[in-house]
Amino acid sequence: MSAEQAARAEPEPEQEQESRHAGVLRFYDLAKRAEWQVRDVPWSELPPIPEGKGSPQRQARRRDVWRSVIMQQLQADVFACEMSAQLLNAAPDPEAKLYYSTMVQDESRHTEAWLKLIGQVGGEGERDPHLDNLAHMFLEADTLEEKVFLMQVFFERLIIPRFRLIARSSRGTVLEDLCNRLAVDDGIHHGAGMAYERVLLEDATPKVKGELVDAANRMLPEFAAHALWRPQARQFIGNLMEARDRERLKTELEHGVRLAGSLGLDVSSVELPY
Ligand SMILES: [Fe+2]
Ligand SMILES: [Fe+2]
Repeated sequence: MSAEQAARAEPEPEQEQESRHAGVLRFYDLAKRAEWQVRDVPWSELPPIPEGKGSPQRQARRRDVWRSVIMQQLQADVFACEMSAQLLNAAPDPEAKLYYSTMVQDESRHTEAWLKLIGQVGGEGERDPHLDNLAHMFLEADTLEEKVFLMQVFFERLIIPRFRLIARSSRGTVLEDLCNRLAVDDGIHHGAGMAYERVLLEDATPKVKGELVDAANRMLPEFAAHALWRPQARQFIGNLMEARDRERLKTELEHGVRLAGSLGLDVSSVELPY
């Protein structure tokens, strides 16, 4: 199953009438079926990251680049553990709790895998300050509607093309294998968030809905800074790729805004940060 298939697994209209939680439960089943174990990753068959060529200095520099890529994902998944635990605690509906119990396990498994991988390439590195800012924003959001919206509708969706990109440039490695697994999982996390946000917004007041758009406006510039941020190790490629990254970011953010619109939010006052 691909991330797109997972994210598209929306309930049929007649199913939705059956129960307002049918969508969320469907993602619970999907999550159970897609569950994997850290031991399933081909740790001993594949190299952890692409093997470098050239002088020892060049190889060391390449390794630092990959290490910084892994560090950013590790940082994101440690934060996702805290966030999914918050969602599990905050969700009042038993069906949503059931689903979030699987998401907590996913994020914790992702963290375990990144910790293992980063251990093989020299340990933790520089933190992305924008990701820390995003984490604070999400963790301190006032309402459940806002948390689901920021984390699952936006963040988890925006992260999927990033996994694709990393996978494409790290063929035949553990890193590629992990990115493919995480793209599927985050497709499910995003799809489940869309389904649950729809349920939550059925009863939401216009004030709550307006606050979601305000929250998106606070989050988008920070997300853009996160997407374009380069640690020391990647500064030299950062400059080369910046124009392409900006283009990609624009497409991703516009897609996010369309999704928000599809939830019935008035996105006319969303300000895109470019
Ligand atoms: Fe994750
Ligand atoms: Fe996730």
